[in-house]
Amino acid sequence: MAEFAAKNRDYFNNEAAQYNGKFEKTIQAIMEEIQQRLDWIGVDWASDTSSSDGESSAAASSAAKPSSEKKTVRLLDYACGTGLVSRALAPYLTQSIGVDISENMVQVYNTSAENQGIPTSEMRAIAGDLLDPANADPESLSSPELYDFDIAAVGLGFHHFEDPGFAAKQLSKRLKSGGVLFIIDFLPHAGLGHGHGHGHGHGGKEAHGAVHTVKHLGFSEQDVKTMFEEAGCGEGFEYVVVGKGIVFRKQDGEREEMKRSVFMARGRKA
Ligand SMILES: C[S@@+](CC[C@H](N)C(=O)[O-])C[C@H]1O[C@@H](n2cnc3c(N)ncnc32)[C@H](O)[C@@H]1O
Repeated sequence: MAEFAAKNRDYFNNEAAQYNGKFEKTIQAIMEEIQQRLDWIGVDWASDTSSSDGESSAAASSAAKPSSEKKTVRLLDYACGTGLVSRALAPYLTQSIGVDISENMVQVYNTSAENQGIPTSEMRAIAGDLLDPANADPESLSSPELYDFDIAAVGLGFHHFEDPGFAAKQLSKRLKSGGVLFIIDFLPHAGLGHGHGHGHGHGGKEAHGAVHTVKHLGFSEQDVKTMFEEAGCGEGFEYVVVGKGIVFRKQDGEREEMKRSVFMARGRKA
């Protein structure tokens, strides 16, 4: 595993147990933003998106149809963490598979699915890294089930990736033709603190101690469009700024805080 990726794994392994509690409001707000844009995301969902009550499970939607006609709608939730994107989209999918470099985040994801009584055939996460150029097709992520997704999504992960363009290409390979690449991340920002400059690759003084895990200070529409196009997912590309932004406060109670604006982008694989 590349050194920078290992820093992410170690950091998020330590954060996993607190992550949901610490970011509860942010997670809830972003889930709502996702659910408000189901049509815009542009997947032919498994269930009616007009009643976004979050109650109808993937099982309920497929149970209504004879198995011969069963439609499948599958999500790859990359850098899934504790499962924000999977949980937001679950009512409209038949299967969500999360992948994350942090085994402990994967464990929180799987425990939460289990606690909700969701079978692993419908929702589960696997530890792994698709972003190591020295091992671009890892054996652990080679099962046929990990290809031909209807949607590949990354929630707040791209700024943690060493090479986001490579990430977009790796995710594109896992989509079926016509599948959608969907990402949520931050708009360009200045970061905080000036003492750590590795030039364009550094996150500044992140409030939650994540300084060594952040590689990019946000992404402009043009940055993302180029990545999507170069990954073959530029069809119908759109980038929208959503919500009121996220405020991170320093853990130690200091008043210093950072505001991040959030975008969502989507594009279709030709
Ligand atoms: C800020 S968290 C976001 C988690 C979740 N998607 C969410 O929106 O709450 C970033 C996640 O990216 C994961 N990550 C970082 N680098 C990765 C890589 N190379 N491959 C897979 N996951 C990675 C981390 O382990 C962490 O769970």
